[in-house]
Amino acid sequence: MLSPKSLALALVVFASVPVVAGWTAFRPEKPQSSAPAAGADGAALYAQNCSSCHGEKKKGSSAAATKKAIDDNVGKMGSPKLKALTPAQLAAIAAAP
Ligand code: HEC
Repeated sequence: MLSPKSLALALVVFASVPVVAGWTAFRPEKPQSSAPAAGADGAALYAQNCSSCHGEKKKGSSAAATKKAIDDNVGKMGSPKLKALTPAQLAAIAAAP
């Protein structure tokens, strides 16, 4: 039979295997960028994508309403340029000052 001491040692060895394996598996390949996500500047995105048609009028439109207008091609909003906006960008536009 195993002595309590060798049992404890075995536990320590086995317990540390997933820790070491886990560390290797989850270590990020590249350092995470601390820069804000591309297009997080809602005011600039609004100016580039919306103001040509809407001026300042649709500032603060909800992301859901904007997405719906794009999906439904309301007023020719279903353009590739507007369809390419990500949910994060639509949210940024909605939050634009
Ligand atoms: C090609 C011109 C054009 C562009 C670019 C455009 N829109 Fe529109 N949009 C329209 C027209 C026309 C309507 C329908 C009339 C209206 O509601 O003013 C409309 C409707 C909407 C509506 C639905 C109506 C409402 O107020 O709920 C929202 C929301 C909207 N636009 C937001 C935006 C946002 C935000 C952008 C930029 C991401 C954008 N639009 C870009 C032309 C455009």
